[in-house]
Amino acid sequence: MDLGLAGKTAIVTGASRGIGLAIVESLVREGVTVVAASRQTGEALAKLAAAGRVRPFAVDLGQKEGPAQLAAFCLEELGRVDLLFNNVGGIDLKLGGFLEFSDEDWLRSFELNLLSVVRLTRAVLPAMLAQGSGAIVNISSINARQPDPVVGTYSAAKAGVTNLSKALAQEFGARGIRVNAVSPGPVRTAIQTEASGVAGVLGEKLGVARADLIEQLPKMNGMVLGRLVEPSEVAALALFLASPQAATITGEEILIDGGMSKTI
Ligand SMILES: NC(=O)c1ccc[n+]([C@@H]2O[C@H](COP(=O)([O-])OP(=O)(O)OC[C@H]3O[C@@H](n4cnc5c(N)ncnc54)[C@H](OP(=O)(O)O)[C@@H]3O)[C@@H](O)[C@H]2O)c1
Repeated sequence: MDLGLAGKTAIVTGASRGIGLAIVESLVREGVTVVAASRQTGEALAKLAAAGRVRPFAVDLGQKEGPAQLAAFCLEELGRVDLLFNNVGGIDLKLGGFLEFSDEDWLRSFELNLLSVVRLTRAVLPAMLAQGSGAIVNISSINARQPDPVVGTYSAAKAGVTNLSKALAQEFGARGIRVNAVSPGPVRTAIQTEASGVAGVLGEKLGVARADLIEQLPKMNGMVLGRLVEPSEVAALALFLASPQAATITGEEILIDGGMSKTI
C-alpha cells in the first residue's frame, strides 16, 4: 500500500531507540524528512542522518523549554511540519504501588508523559493551522484504560494523553488537523527488557532471570497471541494513522496489544 507520505516532513520524539526509532526508520523508507528528538541522539540516528533524511536534535522533553526548542528547530530546518509523532514517555515502576509515589514522582511523570505532548503540540499547531493540514499521532499505552498500580503515575498520565488526543481531534478537525492515539500493550523495548525495566525489576523481586521473565511476559499479561509486540508493528500502525490512507480517522485510540485487553 502506498501510504502517500513521500515528501512530507515529520517530528518524532523519543527517537533514539525503541518505538520512536522504528517510526523514524519507517518514515525514512516512505520518503519523509524527519526531525528526530531525544536527549542523546545516538548511533542509529547518526547513521540515518548520514544517509540524508534525518535531522537528529538533542533535547530534554521533560523540561519546560524543550518542546518549543524542538518545534523551532524543525520549522527553521524544514519550513513546515506535516506529521507529529508524540512518542516520548517512560515508566516509573514501584512494586509497592500508590503509597510509594511522592509528589515529585507524580510531577516528573506528568512532565515527561503528558506535558511534553501538551507543550510540543501547542508549539507545532500554529504552523499546521497556517498550512491547513497536519496529522498528529500520540503514543499512549494500554495503561491509559487498564491502570496498573505499580506504574500508577504513568497510567494516569497516559489516560491524559488519550483524553487530550480526542479533545484536540474535536477542536481542530474542522481546520484540517487529525489527531489519533496508539495504545500499545507490552512492546519489545527497553521499558520491558532492560534491568531498570519491567523484566529486570520484576525478575529481581521474583528471583527469575531477566531473560526468562522476558519470555514469560506475554503470558503474564494475557497476550493471547503469545508474544510481545515489536516496535516496527507499532510504527506501521502509527504511520498508517498519520497517512492520507486514514484521512477520515480522527479522535481514535487504537490498541495494539496482542489480545491483552479483554474489554470493548
Ligand atoms: N515498550 C512498551 O511496552 C510500551 C507499551 C505501551 C506504551 N509505550 C510507550 O511508547 C513510547 C515509546 O516507548 P519505548 O518502549 O520505545 O521506550 P524506550 O525504548 O525506553 O525509548 C524511549 C525514548 O525516549 C527518549 N527519551 C526518554 N526521556 C526523554 C526526555 N526526557 N527527553 C527526550 N527524549 C527522551 C529516549 O532517548 P534518551 O534516553 O536518549 O533521551 C528514547 O529514545 C512511550 O511513550 C511509552 O510510554 C511503550
